[in-house]
Amino acid sequence: MADKPVTIAQIQEMKNRGEKISMVTGYDYPFARLLDQSGIDMILVGDSVGVVVAGYPNTLPVTVDEMIYHGKAVMRGNSRALVVIDMPFMSYQISIEDAKRQAGRIMQETGATAVKLEGGISMAATIEALVTIGIPVLAHIGLTPQAVNQLGGFRVQREKERLLADAKAVTDAGAFGLVIECVPADIAAEITSSVNIPTIGIGAGPTCDGQVLVLHDLLGLFDRFRPSFVKQYANLGPEIIKALQQYHQEVKDGSFPTEKHSFH
Ligand code: KIV
Repeated sequence: MADKPVTIAQIQEMKNRGEKISMVTGYDYPFARLLDQSGIDMILVGDSVGVVVAGYPNTLPVTVDEMIYHGKAVMRGNSRALVVIDMPFMSYQISIEDAKRQAGRIMQETGATAVKLEGGISMAATIEALVTIGIPVLAHIGLTPQAVNQLGGFRVQREKERLLADAKAVTDAGAFGLVIECVPADIAAEITSSVNIPTIGIGAGPTCDGQVLVLHDLLGLFDRFRPSFVKQYANLGPEIIKALQQYHQEVKDGSFPTEKHSFH
């Protein structure tokens, strides 16, 4: 029998009992099946899809329609992990009404459990409005890639007082969890002990309640750049090239297809 889907309450219980939470990004059906089978707690359909799948220089061009397309594919492949879908740039920043409409579309059309959006104090009212209408929100503070132009690049965020205030604001607003990106480990540790919701770190040291990595970084499927906080658990890129080169060669020299691959 299939395992029951992971719930937000279970994610909170993991923090309460000190069990670490695992999260990985996922963007399509085959990888969602693999992620689900691996036992990962949460899948993030991240707007990083724009970078590692679509080849954009950053996440800004990604649209709500694209997030829904990828979210639906992941939901078809997943049965157990808790799925969170990123709200892309300009889908929640214009007005709270707009944020409700776009988050509602994402939830309704994909069937995911929650949305994620970037921002601390500045997004607290939006988070509260979404939570009030029944949409669970994972907040995201520290390096917020949708604000890369404002932040002046992908830099470690070190303003401790602001980060602590952001974490408190999104917690008070009702976020069920908090991604902390590119923040010194000691500050992330302080944030983690200051809030009662789970913190999920990426480049934020070992003390966060959980960790998230971009799938393509973790598997060695993206070689344009690799942030120093990434641990690459496999190097699939060269394996894939090897398989494709062999296929190419066998087509050229006629050793594929054989009788076995033919109809009679
Ligand atoms: O889009 C994404 O993949 C993310 C993670 C880096 C947290 O937001």
